[in-house]
Amino acid sequence: MENKDAGLVEKIWALKKKRNAVILVHNYQLAEVQDIADFVGDSLELSQNAARTSADVIVFCGVHFMAETASILCPDKVVLLPDMNAGCPMANMITAERLRAKKKEHPQAVVVCYINSSAEVKAESDICCTSANAVEVVESLGAREILFIPDQYLGHYVSARTGRKMILWPGFCPTHVRIRPERIKELRREYPQAKVVVHPECTPEVIALADEVASTSGMCRYARRDEVKEMVVGTETGLIHRLRKENPGKRFIPVSEQAICPNMKLITLEKVLWSLQEMSPEVKVPEETRLKAIAAVDRMLEAKSKIKDQKSK
Ligand code: 13P
Ligand code: SF4
Repeated sequence: MENKDAGLVEKIWALKKKRNAVILVHNYQLAEVQDIADFVGDSLELSQNAARTSADVIVFCGVHFMAETASILCPDKVVLLPDMNAGCPMANMITAERLRAKKKEHPQAVVVCYINSSAEVKAESDICCTSANAVEVVESLGAREILFIPDQYLGHYVSARTGRKMILWPGFCPTHVRIRPERIKELRREYPQAKVVVHPECTPEVIALADEVASTSGMCRYARRDEVKEMVVGTETGLIHRLRKENPGKRFIPVSEQAICPNMKLITLEKVLWSLQEMSPEVKVPEETRLKAIAAVDRMLEAKSKIKDQKSK
């Protein structure tokens, strides 16, 4: 930890205790922000943690849709997002209005909504999914027509894995499209022993070259395997900090140093402290929207446990 951070961290800890707050941090956050977390994880784990915390205040170090999901699940808690400008460009590639129009074209379709979407869009959807459970969620749906929003590449991956044809919304992540197949081929030649692990938001050409496709925390679990000594990492570069911290002695090579999500990097220690001092900016989903959106989030969490039950039988 840098010296200038030590004083800040001390103040954050003291205020966090006073406010009975929990600090939830996504795997792409700045290293120094990850290091003050109560919990660091992927979107699914963060929403599960938000749902079961006994804290009064959740400081969400991530992007806006993640804080909104926490607000949907915990209406009685104060959810702080230390920088309101931390949005997700992919989530902004669909609006509730445009989704309603699309639903009219496909009135029989089940709407599967990637969690990277606004609360209003979730409110118009039937079931949510994250990168960690999208395949299982779609498998749980039976034979109905599916409209998958808003990430076309995650949708394409899930369709290939499940054999289900789906109508795909043409959204994408501007950070993950920077991960190019040519670079993976070069890295394979440079590091012939390395495993190549990529996020399902990558393009199909990139996914075709991978040994494993996983959510950000799925990548962390994969990295712990004994046979993995070197790993080429096809996702946002923030994950490299956690991978190196948890696996000293192993080598992690980002596919692209340019795969940076600028929104994730807006959250700093200074802003975390400021938001705890001011109890602002707060993310609060209006109750009418929340009640519609929670049905889609709950169905996702239920689908996951149903699948678990089926597997353990
Ligand atoms: P994960 O749920 O895998 O952490 O992904 C979130 C995200 O925004 C990826 O770009
Ligand atoms: Fe959104 Fe992509 Fe950033 Fe994830 S990495 S928050 S999908 S823009």
